[in-house]
Amino acid sequence: MGFKVWNIEKFKETARRAAAEGIVMLKNDNNALPLADKSSIAVFGRSQMNYYKSGTGSGGMVNVDYVVGIYEALLDSKKYKLNKKVREAYEKFVEENPFDVGEGWASEPWFQKEMPLTDKLVKDAAKESDTAIFIVGRTAGEDQDSKNEPGSILLTDTEKDAIKKLTGAFKKTVVLLNVGNIIDMRWVKELDPSAVLYVWQGGQEGGNAVLDVLSGKVNPSGRLSDTIAEKIEDYPSTENFGSDKENLQCEDIYVGYRYFETFAKDKVLYPFGFGLSYTDFDISCNAASYDKSSGIKLEIEVENTGSVAGKEVAQVYVQAPQGKLGKPLRVLAGFAKTDILKAGEKQVIDFDIPKYWFSSYDDSGLAGHKSSYVLEKGEYKVFAGANVREAKEVFTFEVAKTEVIAKCEEALAPVRKFKRIRPEEACGLFATTYEDVPVRTLDPNKKRDKNLPKALAYTGDKGYKLKDVADKKVSMDKFLAQISDADLCAMMRGEGMCSPKVTPGVAGAFGGVTDNLVKLGIPVAGCSDGPSGIRMDCGTHAFSLPNGTCLACTFDESINEELFTWEALDLRKNRIDALLGPGMNIHRSPLNGRNFEYFSEDPILTGKMVSAQLRGMHKYDVTGVIKHFAGNTQEFNRHHVNSVASERALREIYLKGFEIAVKEGNARAIMSTYGPVNGIYTSSSYDLLTTILRGEWGFDGIVMTDWWAMGNDFADQKGSYHNVAAQVRAQNDLNMVNASAADNSNNDNLDSQLKLKNLTRGELVRSADNICRFLLKAPVYKHMLGEESELDKELKEAISSEDADLLDLNELVVEKDVTEIDPSLLSCEKGKSTNFVLTTPKRCQLKLEMVVKTEGQPKMAQVPMSIFQDNNLIRTVTLTGMDTEYQTIEVELNPSFSFNFYVKFYFGQAGMVFKSIKLIKTKDLEKMFARE
Ligand code: BGC
Repeated sequence: MGFKVWNIEKFKETARRAAAEGIVMLKNDNNALPLADKSSIAVFGRSQMNYYKSGTGSGGMVNVDYVVGIYEALLDSKKYKLNKKVREAYEKFVEENPFDVGEGWASEPWFQKEMPLTDKLVKDAAKESDTAIFIVGRTAGEDQDSKNEPGSILLTDTEKDAIKKLTGAFKKTVVLLNVGNIIDMRWVKELDPSAVLYVWQGGQEGGNAVLDVLSGKVNPSGRLSDTIAEKIEDYPSTENFGSDKENLQCEDIYVGYRYFETFAKDKVLYPFGFGLSYTDFDISCNAASYDKSSGIKLEIEVENTGSVAGKEVAQVYVQAPQGKLGKPLRVLAGFAKTDILKAGEKQVIDFDIPKYWFSSYDDSGLAGHKSSYVLEKGEYKVFAGANVREAKEVFTFEVAKTEVIAKCEEALAPVRKFKRIRPEEACGLFATTYEDVPVRTLDPNKKRDKNLPKALAYTGDKGYKLKDVADKKVSMDKFLAQISDADLCAMMRGEGMCSPKVTPGVAGAFGGVTDNLVKLGIPVAGCSDGPSGIRMDCGTHAFSLPNGTCLACTFDESINEELFTWEALDLRKNRIDALLGPGMNIHRSPLNGRNFEYFSEDPILTGKMVSAQLRGMHKYDVTGVIKHFAGNTQEFNRHHVNSVASERALREIYLKGFEIAVKEGNARAIMSTYGPVNGIYTSSSYDLLTTILRGEWGFDGIVMTDWWAMGNDFADQKGSYHNVAAQVRAQNDLNMVNASAADNSNNDNLDSQLKLKNLTRGELVRSADNICRFLLKAPVYKHMLGEESELDKELKEAISSEDADLLDLNELVVEKDVTEIDPSLLSCEKGKSTNFVLTTPKRCQLKLEMVVKTEGQPKMAQVPMSIFQDNNLIRTVTLTGMDTEYQTIEVELNPSFSFNFYVKFYFGQAGMVFKSIKLIKTKDLEKMFARE
């Protein structure tokens, strides 16, 4: 089809390139790779049968047209002779041990039973094939973390035994890690395979990306976005990870390489930024200078000194003087990937590094400037090279007098006393010592009360529409003055999941969620998970992207931007305004269950990558809801566990990536986390969402909660799902998600707090202003006005007929005990399907009761009808041509926990005739969900 902008082939090609660029090669003895054409290969590991395109949960539920696994890619390339017997053995094994999908949300096991290898299978395979490939597979997801156990971050005995047998029998053994996040790597030394590569979870084109690297079409240029230490106990976070109550971040700013390079170099197996190539590079510095006003300038030259073309990542680190505050010995201050350099070719890269990025936050006042970013006096060293360990000193400069780079206000400081580590120098080496963490001296509630926003008095309807604001006929203030308190409260309530007001199957709807708001010309925007592509629970297909860790390991902003330009078009195609992602929390511990969605242990790398992705999305007016702001470093008990961190660690590590995304990526939307930081739920943290985010960083977009999040009013007060007033007061504009905003279905406290004067109209108006300004920039604004651009028209054409069917839904509200479905709505012809979106204002269980017969069919004809709920087959009912009398068929549906869900009737053959279809309530499930 002759589309001008949309080009699915280019999207695929970009995703494939991005996934390949993220692959990190850790070992390649005797040039085991690339594989020569026609090599004979035996592929082991059950993940050859179920390539993990992404993790599970909201970050992975993209319905796709296809997934290219590693085996399929190798096979389809026709470059290699693949061992059939080994493949057959796995086929049989998987038939007998099918993939365990678990039951319900977040229950898919993160590891599937592996096939033990017999000596005979290995020996026979080694006679036929030169190379063994072993694929290790792991997934991960929400609500739980990885464990220091076999099948999680450790290899199982079966996996180890398999690799051992393979290395003993084959000339070459290549281990591919199809995992979301780094795992324990001690086995590499023990089992000594020829090559080891992290291929991550590369999205639906992931297998092709692996093929490109194995074949040498792409020279690996991925670099580790995390430090791989010997064992999990070596990470300083491990001691304070996994509690169900509070995690003290005693390691403070010494996260990842900042810790290891300062205190424990010998514990590192693979340093941050490390990754091998099929060629060699030399990185040198041609020129360097420091300017008091603009910061560090460097001219770095990268030369390909090997024999094949490839890309290198030049990395720049700064070592600030220890001063009074103590500093890590290395802080990433810049990085850049070269173009493809031919053998012998050179490229010069200019770095401009502002002082702010290597300044330190003085939360104690020890450096003499409490609550300020400072450059302490002393010698600064600049290093450049291929990774944090190899980077060589290229330049030093002196700061004569401690300098204040930015003056802030104490915000988000801990209320609880604890100790943090800091370096103590002796004979040029650094040991850990402990100091008291400065605690909060300013009460955020007092700041809030001092800065209450004012709003115009309520005027009632003056006939202004949101368009009049856009057309500059009326000010936003006057427009908002027309809205009653009750309608303002409703605007703070996002709806979902799967609201029929927006694209079917997406997670949330916000803006004009009630009739009154619609009358004011406020459009209703849709947002969907994210981040690995669009999740539409009714089954609509979308494109699935490589995971966050893989994209971070590209160390390449341009490929991230390009990829998300395509993602933007996928969003536009599906009429979605915002993707719930990128997820950008810091990999504090390799154990966090959602690390696969997140990027790195380093905030600058994270922030730059996210900014690039946002730039890509902004090209077509959609955006990303960057999440989870902030400090979600553990999934276990994530609604409750308190992250206790110093203000310095928050600002230098956990908030920094978000800061870059706001300042450089022009982020327009943010999702707060479920849990508290320093006692206050992030969704109701005035310091986080107002003092820092909006006040210091100048963010002027929207903040939404995570789905069904709590709020509290002061540190260590128990969180409540109803305390939405606390969220709005903090400037968390949208409480996600409600079944009905108009009916206040979550029973929030907005109206009551307003009456009690604990919440002001000004605060509601301020959030309404944030929401309306966001909506004016979103594609839905023009859609609401009926304006259809050439791009919209083109993208409509690009929707497959199957997906178009899903977009065309019959809406049905199931309120009564018995709800009739009009049978004439069903298309019962062969191959046709009819879709319904059912809204159950109260959670309940339903059954379908259908009175049905066949008509006009030969006696032996089979007439099947399949019923799907949210894209899962519930039952196939088959009548025959003999069933000409009406009969009653009952089909029990799955419990409806989320208010909206989809039912699809699919007819494999024509001939069914319905007399009636009823939805009957069989159980009330509301009580199960009563929230505090
Ligand atoms: C996740 C979010 C996600 C939301 C909507 C939550 O469970 O934490 O990241 O966007 O669900 O699916």
